[in-house]
Amino acid sequence: MGPPYFTKSVSYGIIKTMILTGVDIIEIGRIKKIILTSKRFLKKVYTPTEIAYCNSKKNKWQHFAVRFAAKEAVWKALGKKDIWHRDISVKNTDAGKPEIVLSKKYKNLEKKISLSLSHTDDYAVAFAIFNQK
Ligand SMILES: CC(C)(COP(=O)(O)OP(=O)(O)OC[C@H]1O[C@@H](n2cnc3c(N)ncnc32)[C@H](O)[C@@H]1OP(=O)(O)O)[C@@H](O)C(=O)NCCC(=O)NCCS
Repeated sequence: MGPPYFTKSVSYGIIKTMILTGVDIIEIGRIKKIILTSKRFLKKVYTPTEIAYCNSKKNKWQHFAVRFAAKEAVWKALGKKDIWHRDISVKNTDAGKPEIVLSKKYKNLEKKISLSLSHTDDYAVAFAIFNQK
């Protein structure tokens, strides 16, 4: 089923806000296999900052996989058909908290998105919230 996924409209007095959400779960082994067989996939999907971050980690496939899930989750929350993986990237704060960076065309939406990521040995999950207000 296409986006928007879960839509909730909340009224606070005269301020009306629209919250859209997106979630994605992925098998880490699947992403590992694709990256190892396709350099094109790596360059098409991830930014240099993301690649450097993942490669700096001991279990890099978890970090690559969760970033893929993050892109899909944000795409779902935004409900935009013309936004691609490379338009959406994840940057961690000094404390490790993941934040979304969007390409120039979508910059105005960047601050309206919140993201949470988690991974185990086998699966990675991402949850995004888009506050449309
Ligand atoms: C940061 C922390 C939450 C990560 O949890 P974890 O179970 O080790 O790992 P998960 O797989 O669930 O999550 C990893 C992701 O958490 C995110 N993360 C890291 N630090 C974060 C922070 N400060 N805030 C929000 N998200 C954070 C990152 O996106 C990371 O993935 P990435 O490195 O690929 O970007 C954990 O190490 C920690 O500090 N826990 C303390 C929690 C606590 O104090 N609990 C007591 C109150 S309930």
